[in-house]
Amino acid sequence: MDRIRISFRLNGVEREAFVSPEERLLDMLRDDMGMKSVKEGCGTGDCGTCTVLVNGKPVLSCIMPAFQARGKEITTLEGLNEDSAMKVIQDKFREYHAAQCGFCTPAMEIVGYKLIKESDGVPSKEEVKEGISGVLCRCTGYYDIVDALRSAAEVIKK
Ligand code: FES
Ligand code: FES
Repeated sequence: MDRIRISFRLNGVEREAFVSPEERLLDMLRDDMGMKSVKEGCGTGDCGTCTVLVNGKPVLSCIMPAFQARGKEITTLEGLNEDSAMKVIQDKFREYHAAQCGFCTPAMEIVGYKLIKESDGVPSKEEVKEGISGVLCRCTGYYDIVDALRSAAEVIKK
């Protein structure tokens, strides 16, 4: 089947790709663009580990067709690694042992980043739980992730 040429911005850089109509954004990002922080857990829109930001909003890349990225701004964790707020979040994940196997961690950090950026002040435990509820973690029991994100917010929102 014919491939579709699309252009978009990925982590602040203009990019171009040729994608088939059925290709998922997840595969384009991982296989064509080398964005290995984007993880495939379920592949069916249930676990959230494939979450990236599309025009600043969290999106499940396993259920978004790649061609829909045309003209959009896509952000993965690779594009946030030098961001000062993300550095705080990652430091706090280490301090609080909020990553065990690490499979959910990129998505957790991205949704946490988005939550903290958009909240007035430090989000409550309930707000953090709600904010990360779309990403499943099989290892941590979530408590350390919630504490890490609230502690990060205390630094970021100072
Ligand atoms: S891999 Fe996309 S939601 Fe699970
Ligand atoms: S740290 Fe293993 S799935 Fe979250």
